[in-house]
Amino acid sequence: MFPRNAWYAAGWDHEIKRDLFARTICNQRLVFYRKQSGEVAALADACWHRKLPLSLGHLDGDDVVCQYHGLAFAADGKCSRMPSQDKINPRACVRSYPVAERHRFVWVWMGDPDLADHNKIPDLLKRMGGDGWTGDGETINMKADYRLVVDNLMDLTHETYVHGGSIGNESVAESPFKVDSDDTQVTLTRWMEDTPPPPFWRGQLGKDGNVDRWQIIHFEPPCTIAIDVGVAPTGTGAISGDRSQGVNGMVLNTITPETDSSCHYFWAFTRNYDLDSVNRTTQLRDGVSNIFKQDIVVIEAQQKVFDSDPDAKFVNMNIDAGAVHARRLIAKMIKNENMVEAAE
Ligand SMILES: [Fe+2]
Repeated sequence: MFPRNAWYAAGWDHEIKRDLFARTICNQRLVFYRKQSGEVAALADACWHRKLPLSLGHLDGDDVVCQYHGLAFAADGKCSRMPSQDKINPRACVRSYPVAERHRFVWVWMGDPDLADHNKIPDLLKRMGGDGWTGDGETINMKADYRLVVDNLMDLTHETYVHGGSIGNESVAESPFKVDSDDTQVTLTRWMEDTPPPPFWRGQLGKDGNVDRWQIIHFEPPCTIAIDVGVAPTGTGAISGDRSQGVNGMVLNTITPETDSSCHYFWAFTRNYDLDSVNRTTQLRDGVSNIFKQDIVVIEAQQKVFDSDPDAKFVNMNIDAGAVHARRLIAKMIKNENMVEAAE
């Protein structure tokens, strides 16, 4: 269950080139490619005729040629060539999808094309406050419902137990947090004051001693989450807004449903310190990647329980407040779409 009237990240900009790139999004098989102009096109990945995936074919200019019988389709989905007939059936077409390229990602709109407003593309960069940030990221193909990843990111209490050797310690689980939400977003803020830093943050700060640590999670439905994280030596003013003595990172996440029980999880870790060090960028990417591997084990194991018992139900506790609000916004989008569809 996922909203369709939403922009979803289809891939990193560098993944989509002058060849055919297949990816399933929201249970629909799509083929992406760059036109000669460099613009990205997205079509349903099945030929109008005999349903061979078009991604098994090839490009001829801006048209996709089916590998089975040579039918060609333009970027708008209309058939441009049929074998051994001059007249092309006007109904011969495949669905084309609105696409846009922004913030290092190619985005696709899976719902009503008339509603595909580019202003609604999640702004992954705005949380970082402009220039002066750098970082890198990866894609995880997670064999789990995308909402299990949203739950994971909205409740960082799990760091204490899942990531105890790197970013988790007792103070994460025991420090209070507050949640602010409205119809468009959820923000969860947790400050851990005067606490020993876990190994990851001790390494980033490069000095011993207690820290004031923050985690500020911004959720934008249906599934984009930017997490402002960092530490500063205790009492140096971070809590009142002066982070100059600390180190600040941003965990940028956008999760795209693949099927009902799998998703493409795109993430990046960016920072605003030691900007010129490519080595630091690579170490951080690999370090966070290893941390996320621990999440994959947990989240995919949860999915297996739901696969074997579809009636399994979650129970919510205080720590789930952020996830509950996020899921409520996702459910509202789905409900609104269903109501519109029922009325049509
Ligand atoms: Fe985690």
